[in-house]
Amino acid sequence: MHPLEQLRDEALREIAGAPDEKALEAARVKYLGKSGSISAWGEQMKSLGKEERPIVGQLLNEARNGVTAALEERAAKFRAQSESEALANIDISLPGTPHEIGSLHPLTQMLDRAIGIFRRMGFALADGPDIETEWHCFDALNTPPDHPARNEQDTFYLPDGRLLRTHTSTVQIRTMESAPPPIRVIAPGAAYRRDEVDATHSAQFHQIEGLYVDENVSVADLKGALEFFFHELLGPDTAVRFRPHYFPFTEPSFEIDVKSRALKSGEQWIEIAGSGMVHPAVFEEVNQARGDDTYDPEKWTGYAFGLGMDRLAMILFGIPDIRFFAQNDLRFLRQFA
Ligand code: PHE
Repeated sequence: MHPLEQLRDEALREIAGAPDEKALEAARVKYLGKSGSISAWGEQMKSLGKEERPIVGQLLNEARNGVTAALEERAAKFRAQSESEALANIDISLPGTPHEIGSLHPLTQMLDRAIGIFRRMGFALADGPDIETEWHCFDALNTPPDHPARNEQDTFYLPDGRLLRTHTSTVQIRTMESAPPPIRVIAPGAAYRRDEVDATHSAQFHQIEGLYVDENVSVADLKGALEFFFHELLGPDTAVRFRPHYFPFTEPSFEIDVKSRALKSGEQWIEIAGSGMVHPAVFEEVNQARGDDTYDPEKWTGYAFGLGMDRLAMILFGIPDIRFFAQNDLRFLRQFA
């Protein structure tokens, strides 16, 4: 037997008999380490004759491979052993640690319900930024520079002249800037006003904006769509009332009141939305921004609405104070889980 084969067998015996990982590592160093006895044969190769070299080369390879494989096999065995020992100490019959399961915020629940109804009516979702330009929030919506809504007392202005949008109607403009009619979108989102904060006023509130632009759209379409919406949301015996109002960006304009047994307000009319037919001046502003006459007011008509979601959620769920929505009090939130 060649001395290399003897060396290999000696190594294999030692590995097979290694009692633990430390002994195994010692064996590896002894045979395959930098100055290990098998490795030493690699150095010796240079001094061998031409005929001997390939024979020893092959034996050396076999020895290295065999010993490496044996080391790995034994190491795997030690690993498996320590894993099963660790598992043996775990009592799998003990109850686990329960995860805390969260739930949707009542406003999110309200929005989801409303969005679901509009989606069934074929409305697509649109959105825009909370930080807006004055133009998107006011000028494009036919709101003159001296309009009280633009006042610094009502609007949060940023130092660079932009503002926190005071309504989601900004998304009407953004949608028409980027796509031609027909348009049928809703845009749920937050809006901001510098109100005195109390039980019914918050600096941040939530709306669902709606915009429908097509040929021959009329007030009848607006009424039909919103009546359907409120009947779906609050039940078929809900009464819906359109009351003449004024918004710069719609003409005619209406405020929408609802009365429903589903609402904690009972027999009282609740003012819940602003709406109206898109003002031709809004189409003209959009055309100017687009640099074309895609929204020709002689050809296209449309309706728009803005629903106040906080109010609706409060009356539907019987929430007495709008500030609860933002206080993150689990005693409040858990009631809607
Ligand atoms: N933007 C109006 C508001 O916040 C509501 C509205 C939207 C009115 C669309 C008409 C059309 O009060």
